[in-house]
Amino acid sequence: MLLVTIEGIDGSGKTTLHKALGPCLSDLDPVITCEPGSTWIGEAVRRAIREQSDPIAEALLFVADHAAHLREVVKPALAEGRLVISDRYIDSRLVYQQVTLDGIILDPLSWLRSVHNGWTIMPDLTILLAVPVSVALERTGRRESGEHFEQEPVLTRVYEYYMQLVEEDKARFLILDGTLPPEHILKVAAGAIRYRHSELKKGRSRKVSV
Ligand code: TYD
Repeated sequence: MLLVTIEGIDGSGKTTLHKALGPCLSDLDPVITCEPGSTWIGEAVRRAIREQSDPIAEALLFVADHAAHLREVVKPALAEGRLVISDRYIDSRLVYQQVTLDGIILDPLSWLRSVHNGWTIMPDLTILLAVPVSVALERTGRRESGEHFEQEPVLTRVYEYYMQLVEEDKARFLILDGTLPPEHILKVAAGAIRYRHSELKKGRSRKVSV
């Protein structure tokens, strides 16, 4: 019934928020899920990220993972009237793959949108955790993974592209300052989700187009 997504650059704190939302909203019985990695295709996605062999193949694997995630998790849960909260979703592709496909595909954003067009489900609410790239890099620097996305030039552009998506669809996004204490971020995010949840129960219709 309600699809909420959490977005942000690597190191923005979105996974911490996502994990905390489950217990905090347990009375709403949310389905807590994520991209990539909620389906068997997630393993192929991880391999593509590790090997960095082909940006087009990598992008299409992220899309394939999204398709399977929709079919196996998101659509059945929404059909049951559940609240779904996904750590990353379509916007991650619209921003990260816009960077990785630059110079490889003409107009990556249009291509990415058309590849999703007609079958995806747009989120009702997207919580975007905004942190300066320097802060994010300081946080991810402590991690072992060191994925190729976690570099300053990439994250700087990803951040700008997120902000462009916000400009295009202000009603969908809630931007939160990811440098605030996690419990503060949790309180505001949970409050916003509760509000949208109660509004939808009153009968607001949902969007389906990309
Ligand atoms: P994720 O597992 O969410 O990592 P993190 O917790 O560090 O955010 O995602 C792994 C990487 O994949 C992350 O750097 C963002 C990237 N990504 C894309 O490039 N495109 C996508 O469509 C998705 C879902 C993730």
